[in-house]
Amino acid sequence: MAVQQKEINDAYRLYGDISWFYNFLNGMPRLRKKSVRKIGLAPGDTVLDIGCGTGLNFPHIMEKIGASGKIVGIDCCKEMLFNAKKLALKKKWKNVKLVLGDATLAGFPKGTFDGAIATISLSAIPDHLKALAHAVHSLKRGKNIVITDGKKFSFKPFNLFLPLLRWNKSWDKEKDIIKDVLREYPTKAVEIKESFLGSQFCMVLTK
Ligand SMILES: C[S@@+](CC[C@H](N)C(=O)[O-])C[C@H]1O[C@@H](n2cnc3c(N)ncnc32)[C@H](O)[C@@H]1O
Repeated sequence: MAVQQKEINDAYRLYGDISWFYNFLNGMPRLRKKSVRKIGLAPGDTVLDIGCGTGLNFPHIMEKIGASGKIVGIDCCKEMLFNAKKLALKKKWKNVKLVLGDATLAGFPKGTFDGAIATISLSAIPDHLKALAHAVHSLKRGKNIVITDGKKFSFKPFNLFLPLLRWNKSWDKEKDIIKDVLREYPTKAVEIKESFLGSQFCMVLTK
């Protein structure tokens, strides 16, 4: 059965309270750096981080956009967002705006962002296509959204170990995000790369 938003919220409330543990499990600096590079950002750009969580992407984004750019991070879990705020304060970033809200209802104006990223968040958002549609709407034409997420291993027996890699209640492993996105945006996906025996993917969509 699909994981419901309430279960997801409960899981991330807990993760937000033990953020050191969440950050330890999900640091993945190389993967994040690579994903951020694929957005194609320049100094001064405004970037949307969908389901930004504790802000683990922020240092990599900041490296690209500098102090003249802006990060807008949206997340519906105040405990996760609290940690993103702590990070921004610690780093003295004045150009991070955190929005406590549901990414499937986000009302950012059309053409606001120079780039967007969703790392391991679409698999945690039950209506992932609605969240993506909002992000696409708010992106400038010709700009990129990078989706980096987890999925089932290509070699099925390995899927028995998935609960050890990611807590069942914190995502929907039955979702086929690649397939859904390709169906919804058949001409926009410009790159899809799988890694870690097919259990991770990175997808770039250009508006
Ligand atoms: C696995 S975490 C990923 C966080 C961050 N992107 C990262 O890479 O570490 C998934 C995040 O999605 C958020 N989330 C789940 N459903 C959401 C929704 N409907 N709107 C906004 N955020 C949501 C959760 O609160 C959680 O912080």
